[in-house]
Amino acid sequence: MLGIVFTSLVEMLEENVSPEFADEVLTEANLENDGAFTAVGYYPFYEMEKLLGVLVAKTQQPAEVLLHDFGYFLFGRLAQTHGQMMAGKQGLLDALEILDDDIHVQVRKLYPDADLPIFTVLSRTDDAMLLRYYSTRELYSLAEGLMDGAAAHFGDRLTRKTVKTQAPHTYEFSLKVG
Ligand code: HEM
Repeated sequence: MLGIVFTSLVEMLEENVSPEFADEVLTEANLENDGAFTAVGYYPFYEMEKLLGVLVAKTQQPAEVLLHDFGYFLFGRLAQTHGQMMAGKQGLLDALEILDDDIHVQVRKLYPDADLPIFTVLSRTDDAMLLRYYSTRELYSLAEGLMDGAAAHFGDRLTRKTVKTQAPHTYEFSLKVG
């Protein structure tokens, strides 16, 4: 998993709670690198799972809620640091339509070892989309937060529903903007 995901999580904890809380979480997670992440480094996904486990224990919030909130924050960070990738997109559904063929392709060029999910547009109208998400990491809550963050970025009012499908590691997001 790319370092920017870790550095963004630490920044969120520092900004939304406190630097002391962020330090506590890093210490309690007992990470291999003592929490010294760089944005362009790569770190094992289980380190993120450790951080999430500590956060669940400390905040008593479900992992889904924490991942959603983090996804929302992360979109803001990605839009800041890689704003050119969002240029020319009219709204959330346009951005999602080209996520796999454009945005995440550019991410892969910059960071060849990035662990990216697979998004497939199953159907699309002007104001609705059925989007399939596949990832062995099953970060669908993170994806929901990223989508809500993107909707806010574009000023779209999003309603959505998530369904886990029969296929392994696969979810479908039913999205409507209005
Ligand atoms: C609404 C828009 C977006 C959605 C729904 C989305 C979704 C996701 C999800 C769910 C992941 C976690 C990996 C996984 O699920 O296995 C991810 C990773 C990532 N995405 Fe996106 N993304 C969006 C936009 C962007 C944008 C604008 C950038 C710009 C740089 C970006 C860059 C990345 C990066 C760097 C990673 C981390 C890869 C790694 O950990 O190695 N994404 N994305």
